[in-house]
Amino acid sequence: MNNDDLRIILNTKASLVVIETYDEVRALNLLGNLFRQERLAAWRWSATEGIGHLGFGLQMGDGQKCFKPEEVLRHIKECMQASAFVLCDFHHYLDEPKLIRYLKDLALQETRHKVILLSHQLSLPAELSRYALSVSLSLPDEDEIMAIVREEARSWAAENKVERIKTDNLTLQKLVENLKGLPHHDVRRLAHGAISDDGIISESDLPELTRRKFELMDMEGILHFEYSTAHFKQVGGLKELKRWLEDRRLRILDEKSNIQDVPKGVLLFGVQGGGKSLAAKAIAGVWGLPLLRLDMASLFNKYIGETEKNMREALKLADLMSPCVLWMDELEKGLASDGSDNATGKRLLGTLLTWMAERKSRVFIVATSNDISVLPPELMRKGRFDEIFFVDLPDQETRTMIFKIHMKKRNLKPEDYNIGHLAVLSEGFTGAEIEQAIVSGVYAASARKAQVDQDGIEQAIVKTQPLSVIMSESIAQLRAWARERAVFAN
Ligand SMILES: Nc1ncnc2c1ncn2[C@@H]1O[C@H](COP(=O)(O)OP(=O)(O)OP(=O)(O)O)[C@@H](O)[C@H]1O
Ligand SMILES: [Mg+2]
Repeated sequence: MNNDDLRIILNTKASLVVIETYDEVRALNLLGNLFRQERLAAWRWSATEGIGHLGFGLQMGDGQKCFKPEEVLRHIKECMQASAFVLCDFHHYLDEPKLIRYLKDLALQETRHKVILLSHQLSLPAELSRYALSVSLSLPDEDEIMAIVREEARSWAAENKVERIKTDNLTLQKLVENLKGLPHHDVRRLAHGAISDDGIISESDLPELTRRKFELMDMEGILHFEYSTAHFKQVGGLKELKRWLEDRRLRILDEKSNIQDVPKGVLLFGVQGGGKSLAAKAIAGVWGLPLLRLDMASLFNKYIGETEKNMREALKLADLMSPCVLWMDELEKGLASDGSDNATGKRLLGTLLTWMAERKSRVFIVATSNDISVLPPELMRKGRFDEIFFVDLPDQETRTMIFKIHMKKRNLKPEDYNIGHLAVLSEGFTGAEIEQAIVSGVYAASARKAQVDQDGIEQAIVKTQPLSVIMSESIAQLRAWARERAVFAN
């Protein structure tokens, strides 16, 4: 183990140090080693165990354990011998004025003691933060990850009395790649999980690993791992988009390709129900990449005042999950330039643009929107997205395909129907409206306890007032905008 990162604690003048990590065991180990080497008396404290030696040695008698936060701080203040104190989970108590004052007293003393606050997350009140040094534990590098995986493999093999576990170099390399960016204990846990199901590390362990890795980073409703992706076979039309994506497939999937050459992402805009969300799912499905959906609306709603931080963390997590598809559905909900909270929207946009410009990982963005007029112009400038696609209403040929797709989904045989005629009748319909017409036909038929026939679907079509009629003007505007600045996806 390496404790160079922590040596700074000894070299700095600051008495107060904050370490944020989920890896408490490792942090305590590293600190214990460090203080032992330096022959500095070191203690740890927690609310359940009170004060005890850090590492080895005599324990305190029960009378001296100072279970209460105030007692331990008083004890430190009165302690004559220069020592290090590691206080675990002290973040719970940082709203009590007296405790804050104690910590400030300790921070302002001549560098006699080191007081280390060790929590998974901790933010100091302003009167303390200027005196404190914040230190982070380094994450394991490739070699260390490989060492952990081998260790887990060895111990599994020993436990199960087999000579060695089965794997090959390429898969092992992929596994290591996948575990990058996680702290030591998580690497160990996930490696253990991948091995212990069957004693084999194979390609088939990787998707599960990705999912579990995602679960570790709890984003509480902001970033979702989408289990159901789609295939382009389920998407009618969008020929240009499909071709564009196919041309770039290799560059996305090739791990060796230069990050500059890896496609950044696309923006899909067009009428409601045109298949944008479906296409986003299909991109991930076809490329076999995990699909993460960023919920633009909940960025704002979740924690007031934390919008930007949420965005940064979501992007960081996407980096960690790469290669992946990051789907920003209904982009306008988060970034609309005329939203009520304009300043936040601007900062959010800034965060996104910076990340896109400085992108360091293979994250492919698929943004969708049906109201391009409210999107900030900065985002539409050349070079932000690789391409902006307009998803227009499906033409007759595409409508035919969409009918076939949705009939098959419902176990209807397309050849039993005159689909050519249905496609003519449904001029101006979106994919969603075509699907809806079939669904209505099915319902009407089952109410009559009959099979869906041509007539049933035709009736459903005739009864529908498609959106394109109601919104003809705004669709015309979208098209005009698209002609100048976008590529037609169909
Ligand atoms: N081109 C298409 N091919 C097959 N099915 C389609 C197509 N377009 C739409 N659909 C059907 O309509 C449903 C709704 O479409 P989708 O949610 O993808 O539209 P959208 O463009 O994202 O709309 P919105 O702007 O309202 O979000 C899809 O789940 C699919 O079943
Ligand atoms: Mg959608």
